[in-house]
Amino acid sequence: MTDTLDILRNEHRNIAALLDLLALQADLLERRGQPDLKLITEITDYFRSFPDMYHHPKEDMVLGRLRERVAALEPAIAELESEHEALSDELHILSRAVVALLTDPCPATRADFVQLAHTFVERERHHMAMEERFLFPAAERSLTAEDWLEIDEVVGQFSDPISAPDVRHRFLLLRDRLAQQLQGDAA
Ligand SMILES: [Fe+2]
Repeated sequence: MTDTLDILRNEHRNIAALLDLLALQADLLERRGQPDLKLITEITDYFRSFPDMYHHPKEDMVLGRLRERVAALEPAIAELESEHEALSDELHILSRAVVALLTDPCPATRADFVQLAHTFVERERHHMAMEERFLFPAAERSLTAEDWLEIDEVVGQFSDPISAPDVRHRFLLLRDRLAQQLQGDAA
């Protein structure tokens, strides 16, 4: 077991739980219930900020090294990589649908969100299942200790902000730098 695979599996557990929450909110909207719009917004913001930005690229590193080690796995590797791209596009569209829901919660925006959310949840679940059934075991079998050392070093730089002790202080550095920048402009 490597640090990276432990980390990726833990991230999958978080992602799976958040997908369950998103699916419940979509079900609620479908049944004309009262959804938690703040929760929906935070879930899609989180997916854009972490799984899309860092979790998938971390897996892409593992896929890239696996491609070098086992050429016969190329078709399956290419499929997972293209799913990362497709899921990123779908997440972008889903995020726009959330904003539409917030600004104009009419039957059409509700229906759009419900359909996009269910599709996104199903595709993510299927994608993660493939990674756990294929990618992680294949990487465990075929990557060398040197491969893992290199990958672990990079992966360790991008931790999941939802588990960080300072999760409430996101953009704190940016806020300070922005204030300095604005002061500099005003001077
Ligand atoms: Fe994944």
